[in-house]
Amino acid sequence: MAHKVTVQPSGHIFEAEPSETLLQAGLRAGLNLRHSCASGSCGECRARLLDGEIAPLSHFDYRFSELEKRQRWFLTCCCHAAGDIRIEAPESGSAAEIPEQQVRARVSRMELLQEQVMQLTVRAPRSGGLQFLAGQGAMLQFEGIRPQTLPIASCPCDSIQLRFHLRRRAGDPFSEFVFERLRKGQELLLQGPYGDFTLDEESTRPLVLIAWETGFAAVSSLIDHAIQKDVNRSIDLYWLSAIPHGHYLSNYCRAWRDVLDDFRYHSIDLEPVGEERMDDVIERVVRVHSLLADHDYYLALPGAALDWARTLLDEADVPDAQIRINLLPHP
Ligand code: FES
Repeated sequence: MAHKVTVQPSGHIFEAEPSETLLQAGLRAGLNLRHSCASGSCGECRARLLDGEIAPLSHFDYRFSELEKRQRWFLTCCCHAAGDIRIEAPESGSAAEIPEQQVRARVSRMELLQEQVMQLTVRAPRSGGLQFLAGQGAMLQFEGIRPQTLPIASCPCDSIQLRFHLRRRAGDPFSEFVFERLRKGQELLLQGPYGDFTLDEESTRPLVLIAWETGFAAVSSLIDHAIQKDVNRSIDLYWLSAIPHGHYLSNYCRAWRDVLDDFRYHSIDLEPVGEERMDDVIERVVRVHSLLADHDYYLALPGAALDWARTLLDEADVPDAQIRINLLPHP
């Protein structure tokens, strides 16, 4: 039977099964509980038990002082709830609160999502994943190749296995390396997280997400996070692509309709595959939504399109605080 966990000082509440650690349960519920190694050695997930009982679920090396033990400090990554509990635990509320980290990892999976888009799954050791917020990115460094920062497509509830989408680009050494020479098992250094393309959790405004091609990775992480947190906001997702079969996870988008009450997915083919021009689409989207209501805008677009979107949003008097930007490499 699941137990109720109340977190102070935020007041957040989540349910934890006896078979999972409090950290796993909290992350699954979309909370940004502070942590690093997730294996009982670094102490980053320290929390204090205010009411109720917990029990250890796995071994840990981190040592508490006698005073800390009497004060009921424990590690959320190694303990589970033995009943309803109240704990005091730090949560990262904004991107600025998450420290930059460096993590050695390996490529564990390479999947062509369509001819020109590769999904890379990168696995960090169990002793230390990468903590991040939904919508952030990380820099991937392979030896001898100029590093590149990519949006993280997966959800922060898993800091060990991270997914990235990469578009093949002629003349880009990083993409040529990934598509032509990279093999499963290759080591790399992950550095980050970077960016503030994160959900404003205080806002209740409807969300307008505009993603161009692999910018979809960042918005998919945001939507998965919103689902986990049970965020009940209106969401319009516009996915723009100029390559054949460019909406490479359309089924995934359609599945969101089943779990989100107020979600619309707009799949838009740009020239030369379709007939639309990127600037015209952005203009239409901004004009329609700015007339209808006060929205939060998340733009994962290349530079010129971003400038155009910013001009239109300024003209529509949308405050800067309601606009998040993820700059993508130019086509
Ligand atoms: S001890 Fe490192 S995250 Fe728990």
